Amino acid sequence: MPRPIPRLFLNLYRFYSTPATSASTKPTSAQKWVPEKLELDGKTYISEEKYWNISPNLIKLTERRLLFDEANPLNLLKRRIVNHMHKKHRKPGNRSPIFAVCEDQRRIVSVFENFDSLLTPLDHVSRRTSDTYYVNREYCLRAHTSAHQHSLIKQGFDNFLVVGDVYRRDEIDRNHFPCFHQMEGVRLYSADELFGTPQPGKDFKLFETNGERTKEKQEFHAFDAAKVLELKLKETLEDLCRELFGEKAQMRWVDAYFPFTHPSFELEVFFGEKWLEVLGCGVIEQKLLESAGAGSKVGWAFGLGLERLAMVLYGIPDIRLFWSTDTGFLHQFQGKQPGDSIQYVPISVHPQLYMDISFWLPENHDSTHMKSDAYDLIRNIGGDLVEQVEIIDEFYNPKTNLTSHCYRIIYRSNERVLTKEEVNVVHGKITEEFIRLYNVKIR
Ligand code: DAH
Repeated sequence: MPRPIPRLFLNLYRFYSTPATSASTKPTSAQKWVPEKLELDGKTYISEEKYWNISPNLIKLTERRLLFDEANPLNLLKRRIVNHMHKKHRKPGNRSPIFAVCEDQRRIVSVFENFDSLLTPLDHVSRRTSDTYYVNREYCLRAHTSAHQHSLIKQGFDNFLVVGDVYRRDEIDRNHFPCFHQMEGVRLYSADELFGTPQPGKDFKLFETNGERTKEKQEFHAFDAAKVLELKLKETLEDLCRELFGEKAQMRWVDAYFPFTHPSFELEVFFGEKWLEVLGCGVIEQKLLESAGAGSKVGWAFGLGLERLAMVLYGIPDIRLFWSTDTGFLHQFQGKQPGDSIQYVPISVHPQLYMDISFWLPENHDSTHMKSDAYDLIRNIGGDLVEQVEIIDEFYNPKTNLTSHCYRIIYRSNERVLTKEEVNVVHGKITEEFIRLYNVKIR
């Protein structure tokens, strides 16, 4: 019996887990909104009504760039993975990292890049306009970071990570969103890089002629080369998972299918009482490497979905939260380091209300102490109603020899919508307490 595919992972794997059908890319009929052209990442693309299926809302998503936002958990996770890969994979001599990090690839890619270069069958469902966002017959929004493999290899990159936002037409729910984020890894080897410097009597080869394609290897690959590649690939990814899920993480490998790798695998990690698929990978099809001008090397690739990992690692229950601009969400990740362990605490569904308080400190009062005291005081009086406190302004007036502080207090209740009146009462009490305890002068 085929293994059921967990819903959460459909984002990453629906492309390949669904059998190919004969229906090819069929343009949809009358669309509501078809602008003449689309400008993205510094390039302009002329739209074709027959193919265009991008909504204004989707365009807005392309503008958010969550991976570049340091307060977003996806940014933290990206840095954590990159740091690990840089630390663990270094050039001989240990001076420089092996993997180049590419995070500014254009998000509109050609149909060749998104599908053909990756050997995706012509009649594959993922090519349909119901699955992929098209600008015209030739260009689409990348549906996976794999879309950059061919061109980066062709440009001469042997070892790289690609990180980025990818787009697929999908329903929206707790686990699915039309835009999500992936990290791709590619590593290519020459014979020496794979087997080490040749030793007399030990002559390992990458390729064989008239070879056979089996479950374990491609027809062009020598058996030893395929096995060493598979070992190195698995070792690299198990190591990465231990970094993310802890030294004792339980893992298992499952056979998979991707058009551009053979053999292909998925890695599952046991977490929170369940086996979770965390990534797909495999030995890159030699045909792909040949067409990208790297036919003398062999290599492996992997792809992982960042949301899926971040949801598990940080305990984020809904994929839509990554898009939240609510500071109640963002402040839980702001200023954190990639290595920190963070557990997300659900934010209230009720609106925030904020009020500022500014005052002059008494002469010679220590400014740093005042800050710690202020945070304590505000929390003591405001209790659960205070969601966040932030100092938003601080300056010294040399003429009067006085320092001013301004704090922004964000009030929010878990249980109900707060009224301005009741917040005023609390805010008033906080103000009084500042005066009573620290003799500050309200401005
Ligand atoms: N591109 C695949 C997807 O989006 C993920 C993937 C699988 C990437 C295997 C790879 C790979 O590089 O080797 O579903």
